[in-house]
Amino acid sequence: MANHILLLSLLAMSNILASAFEPSPLQDFCVADFTNSARVNGHVCMDSKLVQADHFSFSGLHIAGNTSNPLGSKVTPVTVAQLPGLNTLGIALARIDYAPGGVIPPHTHPRATEVLTVLEGSLFVGFVTSNPENKLISKVLQKGDVFIFPVGLVHFQQNIGYGNAVSVSALSSQNPGIITVANAVFGSNPSIANDVLAKAFQVDKNIIDRLQSQF
Ligand SMILES: *[C@@H]1O[C@H](CO)[C@@H](O)[C@H](O)[C@H]1NC(C)=O
Repeated sequence: MANHILLLSLLAMSNILASAFEPSPLQDFCVADFTNSARVNGHVCMDSKLVQADHFSFSGLHIAGNTSNPLGSKVTPVTVAQLPGLNTLGIALARIDYAPGGVIPPHTHPRATEVLTVLEGSLFVGFVTSNPENKLISKVLQKGDVFIFPVGLVHFQQNIGYGNAVSVSALSSQNPGIITVANAVFGSNPSIANDVLAKAFQVDKNIIDRLQSQF
């Protein structure tokens, strides 16, 4: 009896672990059919007779993103939204351009581990472990260096060189998602009540009001 309970709880645990990642495909491919409004986990498969090479192809990742914005950075995503052949395959890409000093502010991908490669320039990157340690694990990367941001952890990047920088990331989801910390906390719609945030951050409400007006 005790053995059965142990076996059952191990089975339950392995199911929980497995469902933390995208399910394995059950066919060769399942090109996303964006015209079908049926709700499934991912997108409905296009009729395989209609599938063409273009559904598996994306062009333009050689084009630099426009970094003329307050953050000095630009993400060019290649997820299932841009490349329908990625549907059900559990992977995506992104190119990121950085002006000198440009940042990707602290953010997290709720569904993906990210593996970043520097193609040009120097980046300062890091992620923070969860409570209670909240340890910052950071490093200066040069061209050719690779760094991992584990799934769900808050991370950031900054161009610390004199010229432009470029990185390409692989992400372990067809739809990694992005939660930018400041936008979620100070820019939600509707706003989180300022007395909640004042208490959470242990500051005066007018500081919260000012932050909320910026996001
Ligand atoms: C880059 O973006 C800025 C701000 O939106 C815009 O003024 C500028 O024309 C853009 N540059 C190019 C090359 O598209």
